[in-house]
Amino acid sequence: MKTSGNTSPTRLIIFDTTLRDGEQAPGISLDPGEKLEIAEQLSRLGVDYIEAGFPVSSQGDFEAVQAIARTVQGPAIAGLSRTQLLDVDRCWEALRDAPKARIHVFISTSPIHMEHMLKMTPEQVIAEVRQGVSRAKEHVDDVEFSPQDATRTPWDFMIEVLCTAVEYGATTLNIPDTVGYGVPQEFGRLIHDIRSSVPGEYVISTHCHNDLGLATSNTLAGVLEGAAQVEVCINGIGERAGNAALEEVVMTIKTRPDQFPNIEVGVNTSELARTSRLVSKLTGYPVQYNKAVIGRNAFAHEAGIHQHGVLEDRSTYEIIEAATVGQVGSQIVLGKHSGRHAFADTLTKLGFSISGDALNSAFTRFKELADRKVEITEADLEAIVVEELGTCLETNYVLDSLEVRGGTVGDPYAKVTLSRYSPQHGESSDAQKVEADATGDGMIDAVCTAIRQAVGIQAKLADFKVSAVTGGIDALGDVVIQLEDDGYKVSGRGVSTDVVEASARAYLNAVNRLIRAKQQGHNQHFTQPHRDIGP
Ligand code: KIV
Ligand code: ZN
Repeated sequence: MKTSGNTSPTRLIIFDTTLRDGEQAPGISLDPGEKLEIAEQLSRLGVDYIEAGFPVSSQGDFEAVQAIARTVQGPAIAGLSRTQLLDVDRCWEALRDAPKARIHVFISTSPIHMEHMLKMTPEQVIAEVRQGVSRAKEHVDDVEFSPQDATRTPWDFMIEVLCTAVEYGATTLNIPDTVGYGVPQEFGRLIHDIRSSVPGEYVISTHCHNDLGLATSNTLAGVLEGAAQVEVCINGIGERAGNAALEEVVMTIKTRPDQFPNIEVGVNTSELARTSRLVSKLTGYPVQYNKAVIGRNAFAHEAGIHQHGVLEDRSTYEIIEAATVGQVGSQIVLGKHSGRHAFADTLTKLGFSISGDALNSAFTRFKELADRKVEITEADLEAIVVEELGTCLETNYVLDSLEVRGGTVGDPYAKVTLSRYSPQHGESSDAQKVEADATGDGMIDAVCTAIRQAVGIQAKLADFKVSAVTGGIDALGDVVIQLEDDGYKVSGRGVSTDVVEASARAYLNAVNRLIRAKQQGHNQHFTQPHRDIGP
């Protein structure tokens, strides 16, 4: 949909950038298979655009964008590009097989970015805008342009840049509050003034960062002033404090039609909670318990007076019903005797498209779990499958066995046996087995040290979190670990009813990602368009 400067939007375009801006959050490093899994879920959620990545930033990102462009049906697929010709061409190369594609060209326009990052004069920046936008237009009609750091860009220069972008073919003008500096009235005013000052046919879009906790408010202020597209991320992930959260923006508009009259959102909200859990698990970024809309406490009523009210009538304390956003994770779906067919069927119903080796090993994990846990819930299944998805692609090491000794006598001790597996070289054999043992401050420390020794890596443990997937004494423990090494930061996740085993799995998962990130040169710093990549 296009709106000229004077027409109110009817359907708000949801431009999801979880896989591009969201993925730039420190410690997140999704591989192409994981990105594809999230993109399939975003398509089920019903977003209008998926910004799948920044193809020139790494081979891994290029492949992910290409795989998404080739397979994901429904949403249009966008890729980010700087203004250089080679960048734009590379972006198009990744996108060209998508039924609907968009190139998103950006360049910084604030004095501070132009001077310190780009080392360009305003005239040079204008020339870059002309070059990048017109090259993108040679490839595809749908071209978005963003003046990075717009909220710190002087007004006259911003208007000159935006007019140039429209003149050379941009059909969407995205206004980024790159450093999260804007406040709602001011940001809304900016959108309003741009609409009335830049002539032509284009969609105006918001892109708000959350450094002051105002990303959602600023986005909504933009919508009230005529922004017809919002750029958002699931769970609000992204650089530093993140981006505007898709679920907050969508649910505010859906819950308060009186405040957002005539605005339609095409999102299938019953997929929100599932999308949130998938993104959390694959990125290793937990969702805070009290997170608006999809946090685990969003529908929990602790205080007696609240419980009483809700039992009488839910609307006393709830403005959204749990089912509206798909909060049904504790439903029991399988039991000890469920077979492979029921397992595969349930996964399909849960929206996972998993087959081959990944399905086989997920089924083995399910059977192991069913021996230890009587009732398997949707949340348990998701946890296992997501862990398998995170380990099956280009895995280097697999945990074969783990022996631990704790207690109060002697140092805690662990022995691990790992198989080295590489998709290029076929199944692991005995010759590729590695083992090591170690003592430590506790059993988890001993296990991590043993794995480090077996693999020969000296990574620093930057973060360790454990939570329960469901309630109950036999609940799955869900461990998320962050490792740092040589400028690389990766996360790993592992689940098991035994927290020491979950830790070993999470640690190994992170080690595998670290190895992969180093092999691909997929350095977190390199993928950040805001800092190190300057035209
Ligand atoms: O925050 C930002 O400025 C961006 C641009 C690349 C659109 O993410
Ligand atoms: Zn951004």
